[in-house]
Amino acid sequence: MEYYFITGTGKGIGKALAEALLENEEAFVTGISRHQTINHPRYRHLNMDLSETQNLLTHLPEIFQQVQDADKLVLVNNAGVLGEIGYVGEKQNEDFNYVFSVNVTAPAILMNAFLHTYREVKAEKIILNISSGAGKYPMDGWASYCASKAALDLFSESVQLEQNLLNSGVRVFSLAPGIVDTQMQAQIRETPSAQFSQVSKFKDYKASGSLASPETVAKKLKKLLKLPPGNLKVVCRIDEL
Ligand SMILES: NC(=O)c1ccc[n+]([C@@H]2O[C@H](COP(=O)([O-])OP(=O)(O)OC[C@H]3O[C@@H](n4cnc5c(N)ncnc54)[C@H](OP(=O)(O)O)[C@@H]3O)[C@@H](O)[C@H]2O)c1
Repeated sequence: MEYYFITGTGKGIGKALAEALLENEEAFVTGISRHQTINHPRYRHLNMDLSETQNLLTHLPEIFQQVQDADKLVLVNNAGVLGEIGYVGEKQNEDFNYVFSVNVTAPAILMNAFLHTYREVKAEKIILNISSGAGKYPMDGWASYCASKAALDLFSESVQLEQNLLNSGVRVFSLAPGIVDTQMQAQIRETPSAQFSQVSKFKDYKASGSLASPETVAKKLKKLLKLPPGNLKVVCRIDEL
């Protein structure tokens, strides 16, 4: 059996990926998010708000249960939030904690628990973190988001270095999915230009049909999860697939 643990399966890329993986009869998917929108005999949903770090810590044994028949174990840290878009100096302080806990702390805790729980299990193991192009350069109004995705990239590279030194065979990726037609893009387009100077560019992306569908992205992610070792760097982009 193949066991997939995916955060953010309520909508967007995470939901499309879970549904695409469930087409395979060997796949068992655990989804973790605030809303259950998938019903399938091989899907288990855990209702959780990943900004609540203490609650996540309490529920780790429920997420990563012991498995006897695993050929493949995959953790996908997909849930992510932009938070409040706006300039530092005018933001609510609570927002920093919210963005970093969902985008960095929760993935770090889940990676730690995944690697620890399944360390003795002889199965192919992959960790796929959904990062962003915005983690590679600065953007006004998105300081927390940019910094959180940059942190996720370097965290992923460091964990891959450790796994290489341990000779574990675990593969780690931090992938930028491109511009995808989800609720997150809708939130960006609604931002006043005083809080984000590039908002008209993002409105143009939508108007010109330049956004990829979550289903197209899910197909490419499914392909990544089937690649043999050595094909991609840890920090990678969807157009490399
Ligand atoms: N869309 C893009 O253009 C784009 C570009 C670059 C990177 N990304 C990245 O792609 C990933 C997926 O984003 P998306 O575009 O699919 O966004 P989306 O449509 O807004 O979906 C976000 C997902 O995260 C979950 N989520 C959000 N806050 C959560 C919380 N506090 N606790 C638990 N789950 C939470 C949501 O599920 P619930 O509502 O059920 O909780 C939802 O499934 C994110 O990491 C994002 O940064 C997206």
